[in-house]
Amino acid sequence: MPAQRNSGLSLAPLAEARAGAGYDRFFRNALESLHSERRYRVFADIERISGRFPTARWRRPDGAVSEITVWCSNDYLGMGQHPEVVGAMVETAGRCGVGAGGTRNIAGNNSPLVDLERELADLHGKEAGLVFTSGYVSNQAGISTIAKLIPNCLILSDAFNHNSMIEGVRHSGCEKKIFRHNDLGHLEELLREAGDRPKLIAFESVYSMDGDVAPIGRICDLADRYGAMTYLDEVHAVGLYGPRGAGIAERDGVMDRVDVIEGTLAKGFGCVGGYITASAAICDAVRSFAAGFIFTTALPPAVAAAATASVRYLKRSGAERAAHQRQAAATKVALEAAGLPVLPTDTHIVPVMVGDAELCKAAADHLLERHGIYIQPINYPTVPRGTERLRITPSPFHDAAHIARLTEALAETWATLALPKAGTVFVEAAE
Ligand SMILES: Cc1ncc(COP(=O)(O)O)c(C=O)c1O
Repeated sequence: MPAQRNSGLSLAPLAEARAGAGYDRFFRNALESLHSERRYRVFADIERISGRFPTARWRRPDGAVSEITVWCSNDYLGMGQHPEVVGAMVETAGRCGVGAGGTRNIAGNNSPLVDLERELADLHGKEAGLVFTSGYVSNQAGISTIAKLIPNCLILSDAFNHNSMIEGVRHSGCEKKIFRHNDLGHLEELLREAGDRPKLIAFESVYSMDGDVAPIGRICDLADRYGAMTYLDEVHAVGLYGPRGAGIAERDGVMDRVDVIEGTLAKGFGCVGGYITASAAICDAVRSFAAGFIFTTALPPAVAAAATASVRYLKRSGAERAAHQRQAAATKVALEAAGLPVLPTDTHIVPVMVGDAELCKAAADHLLERHGIYIQPINYPTVPRGTERLRITPSPFHDAAHIARLTEALAETWATLALPKAGTVFVEAAE
């Protein structure tokens, strides 16, 4: 099977005489194993259209272009096309140019980045903020550096934590214990066992695949009782929850109880980049010791200005948050009424279960080709085998007509491919 089939990659012709070309077989073999495990990923070639979200252009493998509706974007509020955000980026790029000019160690801070960090610290009610090139890097660099600087630190990590947090834990070199997902009893058991050594509890607020929410206040109660520090990933909640869009901790009135709040600028805020907010000492220590901060070029000024505009806008406007929740709720009601196996969630995330990798991919292909609806299939290792799903993310821009068309398209797809109905029990397959 040719490894590059329909992968969306553009490959240059092979240089036959190159000695290194012989090594290609290792990569072909690795790709072949992904194919045989039905885990090979194909990305659709999509161009977003500013001002018409969730409509986008899809360039098919044969080069033909058609308009589609995107139902799986993490630009949850469509802020990536908001006129104030786009305007800030264009104006700043015109004024400052496009690149940052180097790492901050080499080129210094750029002023829009300093403004952004102040804005983020204010958002979360913390002394300081520190911006990274992505949410992934902020977790990897943040967790690893913080834990490494605490002598004999034990990290207690939720079993469903994102790969970026897992990598942060791994890079810290500290001992770790995994607590069962959102299981306070198990967390308490591990905290008690750890005795009085320093402890860091790392967890998320909204878990993005199941759309469930951590009991942040009760985790903080345990942290207080057993003398632990807390690190919270609010990536799927910033911009979306709380009176000023600071996330679930703000909504629940517990922001001041969490030591480190991490977030992304790429989802609710519609841009790119990640950050931590915490005490001045923590942010300064991460700034001073984290390789993932020190040795990479800073976020460009235009991106920082766009993110600041987005954060500022969402601090003062709750209309997008209200519309987001309303449209997500309407989508769930419509899909459930059509007998589709919607996983119940308390959040804006609407998982529709399939339970099989090939069928999940087939459903996504069918939706795109037949109905012009784009929903990326979610397969292992993002979710456990046996729980493959379509992860639907309604936005304020998905109106009643979009929801009706989605419901019809999913019902037709479920009937055509004989997919599991509501009431089916999806269980994690044994490895
Ligand atoms: C929980 C969580 N944390 C962090 C990240 C990484 O954020 P970013 O996309 O900004 O790198 C993601 C995924 O994108 C995520 O789902």
